[in-house]
Amino acid sequence: RHIPLPKALYADRKNTSGIEFGHRESLAALLKGMGRNDPFVEAVPLVPGLKPTGETKPVHSPSAPSEKVGTIVWAEADAVGPAFEAARKGFQSWSRRPVAERAAALEKMADLIEENRAFLMRLLSDEAGKTLDDGLAEIREAADFCRYYAVQARKMFANPLDMPGPTGEDDRYSWRGRGVFACISPWNFPLAIFMGQISAALVAGNAVIAKPAPQTPLIAFEAIKLLHKAGIPEDVLILLPGGPELGAAITEHPLLAGVAFTGSTATARAINRTLAGKDGPIIPLIAETGGLNAMIVDATALPEQVSDDVVMSAFRSAGQRCSALRVLYVQADIADRLIEMIKGAAAELTLGDPSKCDTDVGPVIDAKQWQMLTDHVAEMRETQTVHLATVAPAVGTFFGPHIVELDKPEALTKEVFGPILHVVRYKAGELDKVCDKISASGYGLTLGVHSRISTTAERIVNRMDTGNIYVNRNIIGAVVGTQPFGGSGLSGTGFKAGGPAYLLRFALEQVVSVNT
Ligand code: NAD
Ligand code: ALA
Repeated sequence: RHIPLPKALYADRKNTSGIEFGHRESLAALLKGMGRNDPFVEAVPLVPGLKPTGETKPVHSPSAPSEKVGTIVWAEADAVGPAFEAARKGFQSWSRRPVAERAAALEKMADLIEENRAFLMRLLSDEAGKTLDDGLAEIREAADFCRYYAVQARKMFANPLDMPGPTGEDDRYSWRGRGVFACISPWNFPLAIFMGQISAALVAGNAVIAKPAPQTPLIAFEAIKLLHKAGIPEDVLILLPGGPELGAAITEHPLLAGVAFTGSTATARAINRTLAGKDGPIIPLIAETGGLNAMIVDATALPEQVSDDVVMSAFRSAGQRCSALRVLYVQADIADRLIEMIKGAAAELTLGDPSKCDTDVGPVIDAKQWQMLTDHVAEMRETQTVHLATVAPAVGTFFGPHIVELDKPEALTKEVFGPILHVVRYKAGELDKVCDKISASGYGLTLGVHSRISTTAERIVNRMDTGNIYVNRNIIGAVVGTQPFGGSGLSGTGFKAGGPAYLLRFALEQVVSVNT
């Protein structure tokens, strides 16, 4: 099943640079660059020719709710029409530009992201509660998306393909943009996913109306300004910050040519219903949604490694990754010892100010999310054993990592988006049953397997349709172009983000046959 890739994975694009946090000078320079509220971001809708009319509202930090980290003027519903009209015009010229120009703008954007790393990391920390590790990873992923899609677009779209045909006829096959794409994104990767969708849509020749999550408008605003600076015309890329109602209004608009959505499964269904109910052309929906991600650990696994990988996958990033581990299936023979190790390792995590370099876990995004997690733990406590691994700071929406020993796995049917790990014990010989149970959830985003018997791992891999499977490692942090990312079933439509087929969904095919 495994075809080795050439070693020179990044040969066709520049690799992003990291920061060694252990290097005092580098860390000091980064923290200085992240200086509080300088410049102070005042985000507004970006629609050519339209002055923002709404009220200016404060944006607060989830780790310090009394602190104002920026301001936002939300887009009104009546901005949707002018936004589409402008973008439709922008599309006419953008789609005719050579692919090389569109790709070069993305590469310029990747450079700008890296040049503005400290500022963007500050916004990620202030607005989304991202730790330094997570912030840096997100900067790199955003730049990687731009460079990867630029290279893919040149390979795929630059020259029409000459197709074999009869003598006296030229048959040429080519791709072009579809029109105005809506890019609707979540708060948990407010830069990387936001940029991933937009960069793919743009480089394939579309104009974009970007609607970020209402929790993270500041970073979206700054990213769009950088994209304009990188050479994307203002009528080709429009920002409409707002909530679900605005998102719904965008998907209802008659000039819409496609939707790239990342978020919950429920919202994907809502958008699908809206698109299905519309008159006019059939609109494609690319949906990347939630997961009820599992890890299977058999009795041969290395407990120390499993414990590290579980803590990383379930609790880092406050469990707010779609890829995060939600249910650990562990062979009963090693379960008690492993649970104790996980509890011990999770107890060592430092929760607190995400902009401090010794913080491991930041806050959850907002009070609503905090309440949902609190309610879930309270409900679980009624019938299951629940451990709190680390007490959370009282100020800010911090939520301590929890471990729930599930003796009734069917008690968990939906994604619980936060630092709560559910553990289920299984007996030797029940591996197939475990796989069936995981598949029966209907989700298929990430899966972990820990076993030192390679045939066991292979058996599980061959049985499962999960989009991203990780063997003997953690299950988060897919790398663009190395681990193309995305799920199946309730977890999404595909194609995978950061993979070789992703751009195709954003483009129209055309064949021209000329009788010569
Ligand atoms: P969400 O579904 O609540 O919101 C996502 C976006 O959709 C937001 O911009 C929101 O305003 C918008 N929206 C909501 N209702 C809408 C409607 N009816 N029409 C149009 N737009 C609408 O998700 P969230 O809470 O922001 O993000 C967390 C979810 O995202 C989790 O379920 C997580 O698993 C998922 N996620 C998936 C991936 C992936 O790659 N598969 C990546 C990150 C996050
Ligand atoms: N691509 C992100 C991860 O793999 C969601 O964690």
